[in-house]
Amino acid sequence: MSRNVFDNPSFFSKYMELRKDYNHNDLLEHPGMCSLLPALKGKSVIDLGCGYGSYAHEFLDRGASSYLGIDSSENMIRRAMEDNGGEGIEYLRLNLDDLSSLSGSFDLAYSSLVFHYIEDFDRLLKNINRLLNPGGILLFSQMHPFVTASPSYNGYFEGDYFAFTSYPEEGRREGRWFKEKVVSYHRRLSSIINSISNNGFFIERILEPVPSDDAIRELPSLEKDLVRPTFLIVRARKDYS
Ligand SMILES: C[S@@+](CC[C@H](N)C(=O)[O-])C[C@H]1O[C@@H](n2cnc3c(N)ncnc32)[C@H](O)[C@@H]1O
Repeated sequence: MSRNVFDNPSFFSKYMELRKDYNHNDLLEHPGMCSLLPALKGKSVIDLGCGYGSYAHEFLDRGASSYLGIDSSENMIRRAMEDNGGEGIEYLRLNLDDLSSLSGSFDLAYSSLVFHYIEDFDRLLKNINRLLNPGGILLFSQMHPFVTASPSYNGYFEGDYFAFTSYPEEGRREGRWFKEKVVSYHRRLSSIINSISNNGFFIERILEPVPSDDAIRELPSLEKDLVRPTFLIVRARKDYS
């Protein structure tokens, strides 16, 4: 895999700045994810593409017995260990493409805004399925396929209009974020759903979060999410029948 863009120092510091202010993650994506969390008391959690571990303590506060965050970015894992470590929390630098090398078993596989960076979605899902206990839950968010579709996709809310083309044509997209090239992978909604059910999961819920009036007051640019969704959230259960 090419170098993780989050290991570019200027990209990383701009991303961390973005996460300090009111943002789409806190006001739209994270509340959506939380609304679909299973009961966590005594459960083991793996966070796939954990970033700087921003949710590690929240999982333990909600009753999880352990949390393992994995991410391929050196910067992210270093920051996670410095700022969000503690008892019951572990971090590992690992590329999700190499998840087959990981052993262990988990009750919840959680992943926030990472899967659109992964080329081989079927392989990823197979590996996650293997790591889950019977009845375990996969809860993930990604950029919505309506966002990832256009080859000119920058995905990051500039301008007054959204480009929307090339939806059927799946595969690699090169966008720009903080002036850096960011590679992501477009898959149609139907392909995402079919991959999940083909790889041993029952889909329980799908969510395309819509901003509340309060959230729009906090961050007016969220109004654009009344035109089209930014995020896709899926909750699926490991099929052990
Ligand atoms: C938008 S950030 C989200 C971070 C975190 N999930 C959060 O919500 O705070 C995307 C993360 O995915 C990680 N990532 C991207 N591709 C990856 C890969 N192939 N394997 C592991 N992590 C990856 C990046 O390093 C980055 O930390």
